[in-house]
Amino acid sequence: MKLLLLAAIFGLSAAQYDPHFKDGRTAIVHLFEWRWEDIALECERYLAPNGFGGVQISPPSENIVLDHPWRAWYQRYQPVSYNLCSRSGTEAELRDMVQRCNNVGVNIYADVVINHMCGAGGGEGRHSACGSYFNAHKEDFPEVPYSSWDFNDGKCRTSNGEIQNYNDIFQVRDCRLVGLLDLDVEKDYVREKIAEYMNRLIDIGLAGFRVDACKHMWPGDLQAVFHRLHNLSGQWFPSNARPLIYQEVIDLGGEPIKSSEYFDLGRVTEFKYSAKLGTVIRKWNGEKMAYLKNWGEGWGFMPNDRSLVFVDNHDNQRGHGAGGSSVLTFWDPRMYKMAVGFMLAHPYGLTRVMSSFRWDRYFENGKDKNDWMGPPSYPDGTTKPVPINPDTTCGDNWVCEHRWRQIRNMVIFRNVVNGQPFSNWWDNGNNQVAFGRGNRGFIIFNNDDWILDVTLNTGLAGGTYCDIISGQEEAGRCTGRQVYVGSDGKANFRISNTEEDPFIAIHADSKL
Ligand SMILES: *[C@@H]1O[C@H](CO)[C@@H](O)[C@H](O)[C@H]1NC(C)=O
Repeated sequence: MKLLLLAAIFGLSAAQYDPHFKDGRTAIVHLFEWRWEDIALECERYLAPNGFGGVQISPPSENIVLDHPWRAWYQRYQPVSYNLCSRSGTEAELRDMVQRCNNVGVNIYADVVINHMCGAGGGEGRHSACGSYFNAHKEDFPEVPYSSWDFNDGKCRTSNGEIQNYNDIFQVRDCRLVGLLDLDVEKDYVREKIAEYMNRLIDIGLAGFRVDACKHMWPGDLQAVFHRLHNLSGQWFPSNARPLIYQEVIDLGGEPIKSSEYFDLGRVTEFKYSAKLGTVIRKWNGEKMAYLKNWGEGWGFMPNDRSLVFVDNHDNQRGHGAGGSSVLTFWDPRMYKMAVGFMLAHPYGLTRVMSSFRWDRYFENGKDKNDWMGPPSYPDGTTKPVPINPDTTCGDNWVCEHRWRQIRNMVIFRNVVNGQPFSNWWDNGNNQVAFGRGNRGFIIFNNDDWILDVTLNTGLAGGTYCDIISGQEEAGRCTGRQVYVGSDGKANFRISNTEEDPFIAIHADSKL
């Protein structure tokens, strides 16, 4: 009986680590600040045909509209109600997107902001995404409704109500994070309102959630919220499927709050992955790619089946959050492509690819003064659509890293090698490394300052393969370089250190 009960509890919780991908897909793309209408189109015309498993969308809840600074991206992280209404679109557009993406097998995961409402200095009025009234000073959010009873002010013990010391777990959970009004998730009423909001999204057909600022909430409070969540919609998902949960907890080590406190509730964002991979590819602090041989748990990262990994995210690509200057982004495309290629080839973690917008960076004393800038928009503040150029890239400052050939082809690589073991590691003791995934795929990098020329066992069947980094197979022809694998599985690789992309990847489906 006890055993049965234990199994039941374990079975219930085990499901919220599962992204419920369709058709052996393996990667999520974060379409940061995209409009719902554009995401629907992207699912149909690009993500489904190229094997992307799901999309992380920007927070769908109604947010404050900021004038200073003008329409900052982070206004989306300051809710004033749980109406499904934002500069990404209306509730009708959200529903249409979810339906259309689900219809082509692409899951939608919402970024949900449940730790707090808007900033304490947010004022009073209807300067919100859809005109809902609120009064930040009085902590009055009638559209939810929340009142001053629903916030943590009584619990916080710091002089100004702000988090002042990250070594004090009570401050981190009960005080305000950068002035944001901190919800009291210990209250049953607050838990219920949050669960109602998330359940509305589940019932629309979403597959799960990226939960913002989890370090600032008590794991027990989160558990009480997550236990109220519905199972996924039977229209698109297996019966009894639990929503995927991945919690934003920034744990780079050195603070008393640990990622591990959240493992029972769902996956957790592994920020060490982002910071460390950037350091290695940049060759900072004496790091070398050869050290990646035991990448993953061997580097002190969280357990594979608990982690959500990424090269950069919307915060650390602009110096917010944590990770520091080692984090690689589209601003360093050559190293960035290598890092994303490595991530997608490596079996560790549930992978998320970033898709960004470009902004006018303006550095003063090493700090970007324009780190607040929102997405490409018209003078009235509405977000611009994502135009697609004839060469398949995006216009109007949408970067669309997920459409870069090297990254998109590595998303496909990850699908092809799904479930295969990490195998045939080779390194030169420095920054030339290679590894395979069973007999399904092989990748090799030259991040040294000299030529790579080596013959290695790839584990693949003999034949001619098309390198999916320099090109791809099109109409039976390889537009990039070709790799000849002998019947013994061996292939010779030559990669100059001056090449645009000093790495090669081949897989079972790129065989000519
Ligand atoms: C939801 O799914 C779980 C298993 O994951 C199951 O135990 C539970 O009964 C389901 N709940 C409903 C309301 O169907």
